[in-house]
Amino acid sequence: MNIKKIFVVGAGFMGSGIVENTAVKGLNVTAYDISQSQLEKSMKTIDKNLKKAVEKGKMNESEKKNALSRISCTTHISDCKDSDVIIEAVAENKEIKTNIMKKLESYAKKDAIIASNTSSISITALGNIFKNPERFVGMHFFSPVPKMPLMEIVRGYQTSDQALSKAKILGEFMGKSCIIAHDEPGFIVNRMLIPMLNEACILVERKIGTIEEIDRGVKLGLHHPMGPLELMDMIGIDVELAVMQVLHEEIGDPKYRPAVSLRRMVDSGFLGRKTGIGFYIYHEDGTKTPNTYLLR
Ligand SMILES: NC(=O)c1ccc[n+]([C@@H]2O[C@H](COP(=O)([O-])OP(=O)(O)OC[C@H]3O[C@@H](n4cnc5c(N)ncnc54)[C@H](O)[C@@H]3O)[C@@H](O)[C@H]2O)c1
Repeated sequence: MNIKKIFVVGAGFMGSGIVENTAVKGLNVTAYDISQSQLEKSMKTIDKNLKKAVEKGKMNESEKKNALSRISCTTHISDCKDSDVIIEAVAENKEIKTNIMKKLESYAKKDAIIASNTSSISITALGNIFKNPERFVGMHFFSPVPKMPLMEIVRGYQTSDQALSKAKILGEFMGKSCIIAHDEPGFIVNRMLIPMLNEACILVERKIGTIEEIDRGVKLGLHHPMGPLELMDMIGIDVELAVMQVLHEEIGDPKYRPAVSLRRMVDSGFLGRKTGIGFYIYHEDGTKTPNTYLLR
């Protein structure tokens, strides 16, 4: 594989997962974020995850040490200049991503592949910022990245076969099964998943079931490993709302219109696990109980 160095833009939930996954597989990777404290938090999470992997016998102490030694952190985007593949994983906001792409255009190597982990924003539109949009591709990972075996590769209108194939080679190297999606809102998986998650919010609003019953219904009735409300708490309520807004705006179908409660949850700071409160309240002892503010 002709890929030696990866640069990940944004070290939040997804970015840190991508960093961990690439380092464990043997690649040198730099995590970039505007927030130094976020970088420190991500490194702590990665360290904790690898410690658990050692305890479970999935890797030994020296493999853990080697993986951590392959990770570096920076708050300077210009440090991407020697990377072969750059993966952007900042907030799901077109303006923020556009500004990042403009900076990457000036610092990245001319032959570097640039990818976005966006869940909903058009790869064609983001790629158009580059002088050479052929090098831009969607690499849509699933959370939690080190565990989930799927990656959607998204072909923008101008993405080259070479960029597509490099993304696939990297995805497979990271242990992912890759599926190719056209640049349509929500790609393949979110196009189907989002209406279900939205409907789960409406069931809570209308008190058709309790928070726990809705999750239990989907886990036991549909054999999903997580219920839709638990899943939204893991993904982030703000991320879900942003994705739904793009899908609704682009597709127009009312089934993608975000439930009112989703907007109110974002207004209240109920963003899910990242703020300790979403559909559930997350306690320090690792347990969770339904968020009673949503039930009044
Ligand atoms: N959460 C999920 O389950 C999931 C799944 C697939 C794809 N995605 C996509 O991944 C992307 C990131 O989502 P997330 O859940 O990791 O979000 P997050 O909020 O956990 O992380 C975003 C990170 O971006 C950083 N950031 C914001 N502006 C920045 C800037 N200008 N420069 C550098 N860093 C900046 C923030 O400090 C933060 O660390 C989004 O596009 C989202 O749609 C998320």
